[in-house]
Amino acid sequence: MKISLGKFIHFKLSCLFIFFLFVLLYISGSLYWIFTENYLGEPALVEINKCPVCYGESLCQTLLRNQIKLSNLAKVRFLDIFGSNSDRMYHATLNSPNRGNTEIVLKKLGKNHDLSDLDALICSKAKMADDCDVSSAISKLSFVKQSGQDAKFAKYLQGSSKMFYCPSTRLVSELFNKYKERSATDEVTLRDRVKIWSTAIINQEPLLLQMFPAADGWPFPEYVGACGRYVAVGNGGKQLSAFYNANWSLRADIAYQLMKIAEMLTNNKADFALYLTDVIDDNFAVDADGNVTVIDLEDVLVVDKLAVKSAKPKGWEDVHESVYAECPGKTFKSCHSFSEVHLCSHVTSDHNYYAICRYILTPHHGSLKKDPAQADGLLHDIPKNIDEDWDLEYLLNECVSPKRQRGRIQVVHKIIEALDHIRKL
Ligand SMILES: Nc1ncnc2c1ncn2[C@@H]1O[C@H](COP(=O)(O)OP(=O)(O)OP(=O)(O)O)[C@@H](O)[C@H]1O
Ligand SMILES: [Mg+2]
Repeated sequence: MKISLGKFIHFKLSCLFIFFLFVLLYISGSLYWIFTENYLGEPALVEINKCPVCYGESLCQTLLRNQIKLSNLAKVRFLDIFGSNSDRMYHATLNSPNRGNTEIVLKKLGKNHDLSDLDALICSKAKMADDCDVSSAISKLSFVKQSGQDAKFAKYLQGSSKMFYCPSTRLVSELFNKYKERSATDEVTLRDRVKIWSTAIINQEPLLLQMFPAADGWPFPEYVGACGRYVAVGNGGKQLSAFYNANWSLRADIAYQLMKIAEMLTNNKADFALYLTDVIDDNFAVDADGNVTVIDLEDVLVVDKLAVKSAKPKGWEDVHESVYAECPGKTFKSCHSFSEVHLCSHVTSDHNYYAICRYILTPHHGSLKKDPAQADGLLHDIPKNIDEDWDLEYLLNECVSPKRQRGRIQVVHKIIEALDHIRKL
């Protein structure tokens, strides 16, 4: 049988096409595998080798067993280079036999230069080379050897972070009681104390999440665990800034929850006041069910109310009143219109209400927000009938800058009552 030349060439080209198709599929498959491989299970990424100069080890087995998988675009490794947070913040799913799938955020706390500064400090104090092995250098430091004594350890923590700014030994013993990263059930070992100290120095957030758990009703994400220099926390949802254009009743509901958060952090059964000192939209999140949480706890100042009551500094019983001062173009944190010393010496302050009213709810923040809806505050465009019924704009202005003494603390309850009513309309 004779095959025509045309048919032969067609056959050859088809074979060549199929061959190239296979090569292309192979290359793209390999590239996809390389770029989307679950690289969280790499011990070097989380820096397990730095422990106990780390946040904890409770999550290491889970991570190394690949039970935490990156979500969506976070899988694509080369996208790491985009955005300042992308190499420190990963959205992921935790799959564990006892709790099923949980959406979490893996956070590398501390900026890289802060972490390397801490490592270099430990190496130099241990009289070792700059790039020494911190996990062994730390045991050479004399303060670590003395940290076994509770009173001494409490002294070392003093001033290490905002939560340890005001003096309180009760805070340290409460932290010991609630500490989930402990290696023994009956004591907080020296290794655990090094972890607590390092965490306090770099970012207190995991310590506060363990002390004030979401399960007990605190408005924070759940603390899931830590491995090396990463912590895993519950996913709080979208940033608050995504809700400035939401409908009025949703914004009223979020505002209500923010005021209730301010109330709970100021007065609670634990007798610790937690003052928010970095009040910006990005530090609050709203989940799919509309629940609001505080997702950045690095700048929370903790005041032990019982310690203030027993020390009785001048004016301790009076409600501390925050003073409104113009601060054009600055954020609440950079404006620094509060005094830690004053907050530490009063049982109660109106600080949290002031911060929420001024920097989230109203246009009085004075910062440079580009989006017009954001510039006007979360409660922009109050419907006319609601303003007439509740005098909401007046109450909010009083909350920002009261005209009478103790004016703010008097209006905040009226604001909460009004918002509670409005959000249900
Ligand atoms: N628990 C969480 N749930 C959902 N998103 C989160 C959570 N924690 C952090 N994020 C996201 O990551 C962002 C940055 O987190 P965080 O505020 O804790 O870090 P940061 O120290 O402010 O970082 P940077 O200084 O780089 O802004 C948040 O604004 C939020 O978008
Ligand atoms: Mg933040």
